[in-house]
Amino acid sequence: MSKLQAAITGVYGWAPEDVITNEDLSKMVDTNDEWIVTRTGVKERRILKDPTLSTSDMAANAIKGLLEKTGTKPEEIELIIVATITPDMIFPSCAAMTATKVGAKNAFAFDFNSACCGFLFGLETAAQFITSGKYKKVILVGADKMTTLTDYTNRNTCILFGDAAAAVLLEPNYEGLGVIDSVLHVDSTNWEHLCLKAGGAMKPASHETVDAHEHYIHQEGQPVFKLAVRAMAGSANAILKRNNLTGDDIQYLIPHQANKRIIDSTGHFMGLTEDKVCINIQKYGNTTAATIPLCMAEFAPQFKKGDNIILAAFGAGYSWGALYLKWAI
Ligand code: UT7
Repeated sequence: MSKLQAAITGVYGWAPEDVITNEDLSKMVDTNDEWIVTRTGVKERRILKDPTLSTSDMAANAIKGLLEKTGTKPEEIELIIVATITPDMIFPSCAAMTATKVGAKNAFAFDFNSACCGFLFGLETAAQFITSGKYKKVILVGADKMTTLTDYTNRNTCILFGDAAAAVLLEPNYEGLGVIDSVLHVDSTNWEHLCLKAGGAMKPASHETVDAHEHYIHQEGQPVFKLAVRAMAGSANAILKRNNLTGDDIQYLIPHQANKRIIDSTGHFMGLTEDKVCINIQKYGNTTAATIPLCMAEFAPQFKKGDNIILAAFGAGYSWGALYLKWAI
């Protein structure tokens, strides 16, 4: 029997039904389908329109689907981690709201803010609760209602983001499957390139911050793009090297879905053929912490037990990294 590892034993993605297409956006700002598709790969995104619903409702929908799919009772769950930058409120936590909505009476729960690396960093964290031997059923959900942070008067950013949630169940594994290794980084030297300028302790909300649109995503696209390409490919290659792997040994790359050009170049630098790179950005845009598990849920039916899979992400912070796992289902 090999050592105790944390394996993903179920994955479920949930996105609201309402769609914003490139055509819709071209009526709101000076843009067009051709520019958006060529520069980003996004064709449409989902939007949670009902104002009475929020991030915890999306997270709860993803978890309910996951519980049903894996035949798990809510009372069996011991921990729920919600990776999000769009919690329902600053407090209480989105995770507490989510746990109650799914009836996880025996779980503790907390939020995890690492922006686009939320799922990646969250998976490394969630895995530790399993490998410590303390818990046997941990849920990690990436959930973001990005449309609440999106300025629909700014063509630089409004074309990029959408709403979704997706959840994984982590359980102990003794067959050498599950999370194997990770390479994770942060460096906030250039944090101003990608941030929400106001609403935090550094710059609390005021009439001025609202008038200046400082409660919406601020992104300087080009520097973020350049670093994202370098950092995602760099960390993915670092993890291959550390585990004596080449692109030929990898069955799938599940990258953060921020821009198809970043995804393509990460796959290219890892030496992967196109069929190994999981992409669904065209349907959902950038759903921040939800992109990786949402993409995993979509491609999981074609994964086989024992497949070598690399996750890679880059986002605000800056934060970036890659994680190597062996598929266990
Ligand atoms: O998930 C977190 C991490 N985030 C990322 O990884 C995102 C990284 N950045 C990007 O994906 C890209 O930088 C963007 C998609 C955001 C922008 O693409 P770009 O190729 O870097 O375009 P740009 O910002 O350099 O803009 C090129 C031109 C500009 O016009 P001029 O100055 O050349 O006349 C922009 O004003 O395209 C213009 N432009 C647009 N045109 C039509 C910018 N946005 C639009 C638009 N429609 N929506």
